[in-house]
Amino acid sequence: MSWWPRSIRWQMLAGLLLLEMLSIGLFALLLVRQQTHETYDRAHQRLAYEATSLAVQSREALEQQRPGWIGLSVKMMGDAPTVALAKVTDPAGNVLFISKGEADEAQLEPAELAAIPTVNRDASSCLTLAGDRWECVYPIYTADTLRGFAWVSFDKRWMHEQLDSILRSTMIFGAIWVVASALLVLLMGRAITRPLALLHHGATSLMTSPEDTSRFPLPIPVHNEIGDLIETFNRMVASLAEQRAGLNDTLSLLDSMLANAPIGLAFVDRNGRFVRVNHIFADLTGVSVSRHLGRTLPDLLPKEVATEMDGAVQRVFSSEEPVRNLELNGEGGKPRRPWTWLISAYPVRTTPNQVRWVGIIALDASDRKRSEEALRRSEKLAVTGRLAASIAHEINNPLEAITNLLFLLRSSSDLPEAAQQYVTQAEYEVRRIAEITQQTLRFYRQPTQPARATLAELLDSVISLYQSRIHALDLRVERDYDAGLTLFCFAGEIRQVFANLVGNSIDASSNGGRLVVRARRSQDWKNPAQSGIRFVVADAGAGMEPEVREHIFEAFFTTKEVTGTGLGLWVSHEIILKHHGSVHVRSRAASSDLASGNKSSGTVIQIFLPDTSELTV
Ligand SMILES: Nc1ncnc2c1ncn2[C@@H]1O[C@H](COP(=O)(O)OP(=O)(O)OP(=O)(O)O)[C@@H](O)[C@H]1O
Ligand SMILES: [Mg+2]
Repeated sequence: MSWWPRSIRWQMLAGLLLLEMLSIGLFALLLVRQQTHETYDRAHQRLAYEATSLAVQSREALEQQRPGWIGLSVKMMGDAPTVALAKVTDPAGNVLFISKGEADEAQLEPAELAAIPTVNRDASSCLTLAGDRWECVYPIYTADTLRGFAWVSFDKRWMHEQLDSILRSTMIFGAIWVVASALLVLLMGRAITRPLALLHHGATSLMTSPEDTSRFPLPIPVHNEIGDLIETFNRMVASLAEQRAGLNDTLSLLDSMLANAPIGLAFVDRNGRFVRVNHIFADLTGVSVSRHLGRTLPDLLPKEVATEMDGAVQRVFSSEEPVRNLELNGEGGKPRRPWTWLISAYPVRTTPNQVRWVGIIALDASDRKRSEEALRRSEKLAVTGRLAASIAHEINNPLEAITNLLFLLRSSSDLPEAAQQYVTQAEYEVRRIAEITQQTLRFYRQPTQPARATLAELLDSVISLYQSRIHALDLRVERDYDAGLTLFCFAGEIRQVFANLVGNSIDASSNGGRLVVRARRSQDWKNPAQSGIRFVVADAGAGMEPEVREHIFEAFFTTKEVTGTGLGLWVSHEIILKHHGSVHVRSRAASSDLASGNKSSGTVIQIFLPDTSELTV
């Protein structure tokens, strides 16, 4: 019904108007019908009365011998508002007096003439003439003699005026009624629609900008059912805001957990696509967070790793049970190093019966794996060290005996010259054995207090430790340090530093290479007032690429897959820091030399240790 108004107010108005028009129309119809009947009856009665009255007046005039009065009575009767025409005729029907016009010219109509024989003596007779005119006739008798008839005809305009006036009053009353009730309905409609419009605007603004609560609570303009509705709406908005605040809190909590948790977290949908990942996970895969979204595991990860991880995810989707501690191994990064991830995958349900995503927790277990490996190796080294120390210790006693015996042998005068020479050679070799055992024991028994150490002795002992490897590689060793140079330090630890540096240099060197060990009294470059010792360990070995150079002080970083623990430089750095020293590394890799056509590769490590007595244990 497109013509029917949408608004409640106009609907009420239209309904009311229709209803009232109908009822007023019906009422007017019934009223007019009833009034027509009544007026008709009244008009008849009146007409009969008027005819009777005219007849009586005419009789009295005749009885008093004053026929002129009849004419007067006819005129007066004719002036009455309801009378159209009054006339008096003789018994034969000839008009004697008439209220309008001349009596001579007037004649009775045939219907009137036909009615004369039917007229009763004591009652008026009424008839309907052509043109819907009514007329009543009453006989005029004087002493039983019929003297004539009094005729009075009805003026219908009077009846119509009566009906018109009733109708007009009804219409005026109806119009006032309709206007008043329309006004009332409009006012009532407004009282309903205004608060409803307020509610509608409130609901719309809640939907379009749920964060903006400045409009709420809505004012309550009426105190009726709609007022109650607005109040309930206000309470609902407040409770929604509370729930939203709670939800936001939970979301921020989850967000910060995702961002700051020290583990890799990712969520994958049923198609294996990432829907959310955190930075740690992105660091693990080496792909930015935004590039993960919408991509699948095989898009981003090496094939074997992706297959294994995807398998775990699909298992979780199908079994709806978590998969825990899956170990994935691979190689990557710059420089390429082996890595180990520990993966757990668990179902994420949005409804109790539906697994919507799978959450992946990824832990970089590479360091742990490396440290376990290093620990195993260093444990072995420690055992070997202890064994070496005890062997050295045990060798010392027989060595002493051999030395004494050789001395006695050389003292005997009857020894041939050739044998003398052999004894001297044997003595030299035994001294070397003694020296090696001494060095070994020195490494093992470290003083726990800092003390002034003679550096030449310390550095010599380190070089002699590697003597056989130096010899095997035919390395040219340049020792550049004064015999009197001393430093206040933990000698055992400093020995360890140089053992590692010299060891690394030998590892990097090839046959016929060169190894420089230098120590000079010097000043701290940053603080010239601070004097100390500047050490240099330099080799012409393989050198390092910049990306290797960047990581050498990290624990477990090694390029020597089987033989290295990656702890040497890390420990050395710690010791240097403990001595308030600094270290500087320059290196050029052999491969870059080939590219540039330059053949000199190698590594120079410079260490400055301040000569200070502020060392703590
Ligand atoms: N003189 C050098 N020349 C070339 N590379 C070096 C040199 N010194 C150190 N490096 C590089 O630095 C890495 C780390 O050295 P670090 O001494 O910490 O461990 P490592 O020698 O590998 O193992 P470890 O000393 O524990 O047996 C080495 O693996 C090597 O790649
Ligand atoms: Mg090393």
